[in-house]
Amino acid sequence: MKIKSAEFVMSNSNVINAPKERIPEYAFIGRSNVGKSSLINMLMERKDLAKTSGKPGKTQLINHFKINDEWFLVDLPGYGYAQTSKKKRTIFQYFIENYFKEREQLVCTFVLIDSRHNPQKIDLEFMQFLGENQLPFCIVFTKSDKLSANQLEKQLTSYKKELLNFWEPLPTSFITSSETGFGRKEFLDFIDNINKN
Ligand code: GTP
Ligand code: MG
Repeated sequence: MKIKSAEFVMSNSNVINAPKERIPEYAFIGRSNVGKSSLINMLMERKDLAKTSGKPGKTQLINHFKINDEWFLVDLPGYGYAQTSKKKRTIFQYFIENYFKEREQLVCTFVLIDSRHNPQKIDLEFMQFLGENQLPFCIVFTKSDKLSANQLEKQLTSYKKELLNFWEPLPTSFITSSETGFGRKEFLDFIDNINKN
């Protein structure tokens, strides 16, 4: 897919105020600092379209970006920042949970996972939440540039093996690097294919 335009539309804390247009929507979610905002910039080939930071907790609202005047890309706040794992159902801020439950335009959610990490409870719980709400999702393994090709393959094989204890069949997955642009075409082609069908 060729990116002809990418514009920031609005930020909201309540999904009720999100854009009303019935065009396909794709959302990025994952732990704070996993690289959600950076991936949006990489895909759109724009440096500062989405605000990024080395410190977790940068994105605080539901951010809508309109791409090619045809679809929305949504940058969400991360989960797992300054929260204890004991507070099970409160791991998502209320408004994030509401976004997923209310947003009818949502076509697919991308759950971002740092390529270096093993399956973590909070990610598994979030996938579970999506499953319970019948929301399709893919996994995106980010920051692949931080591992050698060998390490990456080993790590992802073991991640998927462990994930199989919870998810069968495995969701579609992508490998990306916002540093090098790795995975960009495959990712955009995936969205393009859905939009065309
Ligand atoms: P929150 O908004 O806080 O939830 O974080 P986020 O998931 O949006 O992460 P963000 O894109 O702000 O990136 C966090 C940090 O990781 C920044 O310092 C980025 O430069 C870095 N980063 C993101 N993606 C990559 C990547 O692919 N490779 C490398 N090496 N660093 C990355
Ligand atoms: Mg962010």
